[in-house]
Amino acid sequence: SDAKVLLALESSCDETAAAVIDDQLHVLSSVVATQDELHQRFGGVVPEIASRAHLENLLPVIDEALSRSGKSLEDLSAIAVMTEPGLVGSLLVGLTAAKTLALVTDRPLVTVNHIHAHLFACQMDADNDIFPALGLVVSGGHTNLYDCRSATEYELIGSTIDDAAGEAFDKAAAILGLPYPGGPFISRIAEKGDPKAFRFPRTFIKDERLAFSFSGIKTAIRYTALGQPGSREPVPDLDEQRIADLAASFQEAVVDVLVAKCRQAAERYGRTTLCIGGGVAANLRFRERLAEMASQTGFRIIIAPQSLCTDNAAMAAIAWKLLEEGRVAALDADVVPGLVR
Ligand code: KG4
Ligand code: ZN
Repeated sequence: SDAKVLLALESSCDETAAAVIDDQLHVLSSVVATQDELHQRFGGVVPEIASRAHLENLLPVIDEALSRSGKSLEDLSAIAVMTEPGLVGSLLVGLTAAKTLALVTDRPLVTVNHIHAHLFACQMDADNDIFPALGLVVSGGHTNLYDCRSATEYELIGSTIDDAAGEAFDKAAAILGLPYPGGPFISRIAEKGDPKAFRFPRTFIKDERLAFSFSGIKTAIRYTALGQPGSREPVPDLDEQRIADLAASFQEAVVDVLVAKCRQAAERYGRTTLCIGGGVAANLRFRERLAEMASQTGFRIIIAPQSLCTDNAAMAAIAWKLLEEGRVAALDADVVPGLVR
């Protein structure tokens, strides 16, 4: 076919990824090299280790993405790269590679906001335009609500005041002795548990503010599972059933809050389409509860395809929309590190 293709790079956190996407938003190839094993024993991402691993992995990942797509550098129409937000050292590895490729291929460079890309992932399998929409990005680093006016114009309207939802899943998992990253493990083990076994806090659920807080529930599960510091009350053994009950009750509380805030935000901003992306959007219970909410409200709820929920480069397909608007980056473009943008 004569569809144009672009190469996209992602290295904002702990996944090194490259993808080839055509201008019809078809993903020709998407390669993700995870660093989970490297960070596992630290229970979280170590920035210095992450940037070194990106350096080692990026070129092989790019080669793999090109060869799986059947394309070569000469076939590319543009180079896209995620430049914000994220870890500064990690972002710089991707940006430097992208600039070099843009220079040698003489193709435009497009810089992409990683969180916006998580939301744009919802567009990629949809039959028609999903924007305007209310957006929620729930990942290890972010719990952000956006009013998405168009495919490229996203206004941040709410976020967490402390931990991200995925981070809370990861910390709860660590407390329960489950591996990192903990979200998928909590989700699996919760299937055997009773979501009503423990009553965990649903912070801000009835609050007017479009804000989240997950530090209270983190403390609550810690005290329930391991005992309160200084207390002489004996704590029951963390046997398999208790772990499952704790996981299910934790998950139910987090999902309650996420669903309620999506609904509240959509109603306030007058949006009837909701798009949800990020690693936690892979959670099956969350998906179930969103489907229930859709049937109650009539909202159209679009969750990013499972393969595009956790970090990947294919969601940088938003670069096609940016290119349509002429938003080509200069070769001295810089990264914008940090958490929320
Ligand atoms: O989007 P992502 O890959 O990276 C960030 O940009 O942060 O999200 C990773 C996060 C982790 O915290 C992980 O525990 C969580 O998403 N996660 C899940 C599930 N799968 C991944 N949380 C709950 N349930 C899941 N099934
Ligand atoms: Zn992400």
